[in-house]
Amino acid sequence: MSEKPRTVSGMRPTGPLHLGHYFGVLRNWIDLQEREQAFFFVADWHALTSDYADPSAIRRNIDEMVKDWVAAGLDPEKCVIFRQSDVKEHAELSLLLSMITPVSWLERNPTYKEQQQQISNKDLGNAGFLCYPVLMAADILMYRPHGVPVGEDQLPHMELTREIARRFNYLYGETFPEPQALLTPAAKCPGLDGRKMSKSYGNGISLSEPMASIRDKVRGMFTDKARLRKSDPGDPDICNLFPYHVLLSSPEEQMEIRRGCTSATLGCVDCKKIFLKNLAAFLEPLQERRAKLDDKAVTDILAAGGERARAFAATTMNAVREKMGL
Ligand code: TRP
Repeated sequence: MSEKPRTVSGMRPTGPLHLGHYFGVLRNWIDLQEREQAFFFVADWHALTSDYADPSAIRRNIDEMVKDWVAAGLDPEKCVIFRQSDVKEHAELSLLLSMITPVSWLERNPTYKEQQQQISNKDLGNAGFLCYPVLMAADILMYRPHGVPVGEDQLPHMELTREIARRFNYLYGETFPEPQALLTPAAKCPGLDGRKMSKSYGNGISLSEPMASIRDKVRGMFTDKARLRKSDPGDPDICNLFPYHVLLSSPEEQMEIRRGCTSATLGCVDCKKIFLKNLAAFLEPLQERRAKLDDKAVTDILAAGGERARAFAATTMNAVREKMGL
């Protein structure tokens, strides 16, 4: 087994990945695969915790998500790409960790309380949803990583994972290193309406979206709401579009845009054109790579990755079973 530091992360297959996923997390994964022994998986069991009543979309979303990952630059030769449900050891470890996890830790988890309140179209009173963080702790601790690249919203889950690791080590002896969250240096990527980019708000640009559809959306997008005419000077720091230039335009272009906007010589229509040009240059190679991936390619990637993940998981489970007297 290689001596590189290890890392692991997963995403729920909830739909097409958008720019927010890319700049928030995926870019970090692509970077990590170069330096670390990285495990990246599709968290299909986690998707079931909330979508158990209608799982029809999950199956399709799994393959699409793997395509998005590989198109964006994850390389199955450099990292292990697999599907959570292909590695049954995750379920076994989750069960064993649930023995030592107080229910009160799960009930006071802020994400749990928040989602219970906010999501009204699904029933989340099931045990699987309460135990979501235990399964996530199992996903992570299985690979004994030093770090886990996640978005900020996952920090409460990371804290619980560390607490569970500490409790295991205290009860049965040092087994799991406490993993750190590896946050991407804050990339601001708001949705087209200024709220957080999210599938449920329908305000995102997905990585596989045709440019024609993106053009329509961007045309209707708000910029600096206080700037009504081109002859009014604008303020990039409150503009909804400017954060995208920070992500996609060269530093020189950003300076020119800032100057043009604040001096009222560059209008929002032309500014959007620059954005669309740079976005197309970013998305085109990605979409070309995606078009070459068929379902067979995805099946092969997941089969090979599942085998490597299971081999690693087996070593952790041997140690865990022994420590727990099994
Ligand atoms: N909870 C994560 C999310 O919603 C997905 C996830 C499941 C995960 N297991 C994980 C992330 C393990 C990192 C490590 O995004």
